[in-house]
Amino acid sequence: KHCFTKSDDGYLYCETVKVQEIMESVDRRPFYLYSKPQITRNVEAYKDALQGLNSVIGYAIKANNNLKILEHLRHLGCGAVLVSGNELRLALRAGFDPTRCIFNGNGKILEDLTLAALEGVFINIDSEFDLENIVAAARIAGKRVNVLLRINPDVDPQVWNVHPYVATGNKNSKFGIRNEKLQWFLDAIKEHPNEVKLVGAHCHLGSTITKVDIFRDAAVIMINYIDQIRDQGFEVNYLNIGGGLGIDYYHSDAVLPTPRDLIDTVRELVLSRGLNLIIEPGRSLVANTCCLVNRVTGVKTNGSKNFVVIDGSMAELIRPSLYDAYQHIELVSPATADAEILTFDVVGPVCESADFLGKGRELPTPAKGAGLVVHDAGAYCMSMASTYNLKMRPPEYWVEDDGSVSKIRHGETFEDHIRFFEGL
Ligand code: LLP
Repeated sequence: KHCFTKSDDGYLYCETVKVQEIMESVDRRPFYLYSKPQITRNVEAYKDALQGLNSVIGYAIKANNNLKILEHLRHLGCGAVLVSGNELRLALRAGFDPTRCIFNGNGKILEDLTLAALEGVFINIDSEFDLENIVAAARIAGKRVNVLLRINPDVDPQVWNVHPYVATGNKNSKFGIRNEKLQWFLDAIKEHPNEVKLVGAHCHLGSTITKVDIFRDAAVIMINYIDQIRDQGFEVNYLNIGGGLGIDYYHSDAVLPTPRDLIDTVRELVLSRGLNLIIEPGRSLVANTCCLVNRVTGVKTNGSKNFVVIDGSMAELIRPSLYDAYQHIELVSPATADAEILTFDVVGPVCESADFLGKGRELPTPAKGAGLVVHDAGAYCMSMASTYNLKMRPPEYWVEDDGSVSKIRHGETFEDHIRFFEGL
């Protein structure tokens, strides 16, 4: 079951609510619209898949940091994956158990590491200097830190067709440590028994992964490392295989792997070593729960190109501009019978040519004021939004379990911007 459906008479629904009606009842566009039940279903899919394993679902907060959504994910039993001190503060605010949180990143700063150490968060070691900083943070905090080694398994995530920016686990990436340095790290960790306790190994292959076999390839490599680490007397109990499961952005008939397919590729390996499995999904928990709802400002033609100009833009949703990412676009209400079907670039009002939400899309020519959604906008959309051209960040709403609609984030305003300059 998916939250967004089109009725036979051509209206888009979010769960049981007509998107057109929501659009008319809110005072500002564009806005993000989520389905709370879809978030629940996505988490349940992972929970079902993980039955029989000791596991932590570490939701990657960078995908979407709406506090209400975080509280809901925490309530459903998720832990959290953090990449900054502020994400850690937000996770604590949302009530996440710090011992089910993992602090990741290749450039973690001492101040943030110290907060993580104080709170008892698991920390991934990314480099020599990172280990140095973690040891320093442990001393400042007066706590022994549970650490995992982020190992770069050099597995090709096979997402180069998507965009090179989303691959991370290959050998020349800036993340993690290479295998030839493993012994150096183990020796260094042994020198700091009061500051760090090595509890596991971590890898993250990339994002938008649609071939789950590579998770098995990575797990085989990681288990081999864990065996080597255990041979040296470390009690490592956690295997963290990162996030990265892709979603069906194309709304095609292609059958994509599910959380169960993903977990099943590593289940036996994890059980064979008695390990706890940590996973770090972001996109696959939230992307398909949301769309950006826009209004059509007008339609124009230049040369051979047709444009639908909407009020949303690269400021609210930058993935198409930044990664050439495809996100499905459709109208929320049926077009009139005489509306010509044409190929359009869907663009925003921002003053640069990079500002597009979709290119070459076949759509019935929309009327001024028609609603148009960009789908699968729950991950890396609002969290990557900017205020470029002073298009302030949009409000967010969700459809609740009972079908009512609630605001879950205020839209940013012009006054918010002015506040940065007060008293200077
Ligand atoms: N764990 C680590 C260490 C990561 O680097 C990431 C994402 C995740 C987990 C979550 O991955 P997911 O399950 O969401 O694929 N802004 C890009 C995606 C960047 C992903 C970066 N790392 C986009 O919009 O496609």
